[in-house]
Formats: sequence, structure tokens, C-alpha cells
Amino acid sequence: MKQDIKLCMIGAGRVGKNHSRAITRHVPAAKIVALVDPAVEIINETGDEFGVENRFDSLEQAVEKVDFDAVVITTPTFTHKSLACTAANHGKHVFLEKPMALSLEECDEIIKTCEDNQVFLQLGFMRRFEPEFVEAAKRIQAGEIGVPMFVKSLTHGPGLPPAWASDLKRSNGMLAEVNSHDWDATRWLMGSDYLRVYTEVANFKGERFNVQTPDFYDNVLVSIKFESGGLGTFSGICPCEYGYDARMEIVGDKGILQIGEMKGQAILTCTNRDQGLITPIYRTWPQRFAWGYIYELEHFVECIQKGEQPKVGGEEGRWAVAGVLAGTRSFQEERPVYLKEILN
Ligand SMILES: NC(=O)c1ccc[n+]([C@@H]2O[C@H](COP(=O)([O-])OP(=O)(O)OC[C@H]3O[C@@H](n4cnc5c(N)ncnc54)[C@H](O)[C@@H]3O)[C@@H](O)[C@H]2O)c1
Repeated sequence: MKQDIKLCMIGAGRVGKNHSRAITRHVPAAKIVALVDPAVEIINETGDEFGVENRFDSLEQAVEKVDFDAVVITTPTFTHKSLACTAANHGKHVFLEKPMALSLEECDEIIKTCEDNQVFLQLGFMRRFEPEFVEAAKRIQAGEIGVPMFVKSLTHGPGLPPAWASDLKRSNGMLAEVNSHDWDATRWLMGSDYLRVYTEVANFKGERFNVQTPDFYDNVLVSIKFESGGLGTFSGICPCEYGYDARMEIVGDKGILQIGEMKGQAILTCTNRDQGLITPIYRTWPQRFAWGYIYELEHFVECIQKGEQPKVGGEEGRWAVAGVLAGTRSFQEERPVYLKEILN
């Protein structure tokens, strides 16, 4: 088995830092040998924190100067296709953050380029590795709640995302930035593709936060009809004031299964009977999905070591992008949208 997988981190921002931390502390079979980010202050901060000496402002420079097996891409969505294809064309395996890309054409180009170069492609859907989601999937697949009939999901995040992420043209907006995980997890746990979606959006805080981008929304509600006949709904809110909140509920014809809770720590205090019980909520996504990020990166490295295909790849990434595009068209045209309109 191949030892010491050498990684190049592309993007040293919020997720670049989160993944560098997970790899450095928890994935001993991997070593970060290079960092790429044109933002000098950010690359230096992340490079210093994780002891990465080789720092570059482009992937091409890193490829020329340093030997590595794979890249971990944590840059804005509009850069994903170009970076993933460049890495694959240089024979590097690709771990790519969600959303996979801006369009299905871009997704197809990434998938084909990885296949042509015989490199692995893994998508950053960490819920597929988070222990309670994995357990839920196992139980559903074993038939514990019967045939999945209905799924409810939500992702509410506290901080206003980076400016590019509020811009529909550069990110596809919150449906992609925040709810990519709901698109993927509802499809995964219902065991079915989407047939039709209907979306409503609202903007409560844009003006307060001086967000200037056209079509900005900070609340979204999605209704889904699945190919299986099942139904689903999920919400996105960002920024929400109260913390980071990601929960799911799946109802089958024999029972119900819930994943996650608002409580971020198993601790309760009561010092005032009028105020009642007090317990901490999850504050951030790195805290809520800490194990998911570690396990997904461990899986990527193990797949390279063993020469095995990662279990979450281009197909899952492409379906989530298709959901985002259908959902966006739905609120823009104020009507339900069939996936076949997007996939054709
Ligand atoms: N899996 C998750 O839970 C999760 C959470 C948040 C964000 N994300 C995703 O991670 C990605 C990055 O999000 P973020 O919040 O870290 O963004 P960010 O803006 O904090 O960081 C992105 C970094 O990429 C750098 N960059 C831009 N173009 C580059 C290029 N061509 N080459 C190298 N570096 C480049 C920027 O300078 C910046 O430092 C997005 O795809 C986002 O959707 C995933």
C-alpha cells in the first residue's frame, strides 16, 4: 500500500484552513507539501499555522516546483472546473469541495478529464461520512423504517458567507453554497433521484448587511417530488442569528428516523428556574461536522493508497448541481421545474 500521500491544498480560506487542520492532526498517512492561494495574507496565515513551506499563487507553479499525488480544492465555485481539470491533466487525484461546479457542462468536463487521466475524483459531501448520517443510511438501507416516504432537512448557518458566495453568477447562491449538502443527503437517504422541485426565496437581511448582488436571498424553501414517488422539503437560512443548525427527519412506511439535534454539547445548566434549562448550540459548521471532515479526507487518502474509487464522486456532485439549477430556475420563473428540463 502506498504510504505518505503528498497533498497540495488549493485555497487557504475558511475551508482550506479547516481541511488543513483535519489532515495535519488526524490523517497521518497524508502530508501537505504545498499550498496554493493568490491571497498573500491568507496563504501565509494558513501556511504558518500548519507548517507548509511551499506556497504558490497558482496551481501551475506548484506542479512545476513540487511533487505531489493529489489536490484538495477549497476555492470559490467559479474556479472549480478549471482547477480540477488542470490538476487531473497533470495526473493528480482530485478532492473537490461542493458545489462541484456552476453548470452541468462544467461537471461533465471535470468527470471526463478525471476519467481520461485515470485519477480519482471525490466530492466534499462530508455528511456522507458523519457518523450519525452513516448510521442512518445503514438503517434505512436495512429496511428499519420501511420504504422512505418523506424527508425533511434543514441547514441554517450563522455567518454571512464570503462576498463571492452571495453572487448568483459566481456561486449559484445559497441553494448551492449552503444547501448543496441537503440536495445530496436527501437524494442519498431517500434512495431516489429528484423528479420535480419548487422553490421559494426571501431576502430579510441583505439590506442590513449591505449585500449588493442581484437576486440575493437569505432564506429558501424547497419542495421535492422524488422519482420514487416520495416527497421532500428542505430549508436554508444564512445568516441566521442563533447558531449552526443541520438536522434531518425521514419518515418511512414503518417508522421515523431523526438525525441530529440543535444541542451542540451534552450539557445542561439551570441556575434560574424562570429562565429554565440552558444548553449550548453548535456555533459553526467546522464544529458540527468535525468528524465528517476528518473521515472524508481520510477516505480520500485511503482510496489513493489502495487504488480504490472514492464512494462519493462526480455523479453525486452533478446531481446536486442539477438540483441547484432546477431550484434556481423555479424561484426565478415562479413555477415547479422538472429535472428533465435541466438534464436535457
Ligand atoms: N463542505 C463544507 O461544509 C463547506 C463549508 C463552506 C464552504 N464550502 C465550499 O468550499 C469552497 C471554499 O469556500 P470558503 O468558504 O473556504 O471560501 P473562502 O473565500 O473563505 O476561501 C477561498 C480561498 O480560495 C482562494 N482562491 C481563489 N481563487 C483561487 C485560485 N484560482 N487558486 C487558489 N486559490 C484561490 C481565495 O483567495 C480564498 O482564500 C467553496 O466551494 C464552498 O462552497 C464547503
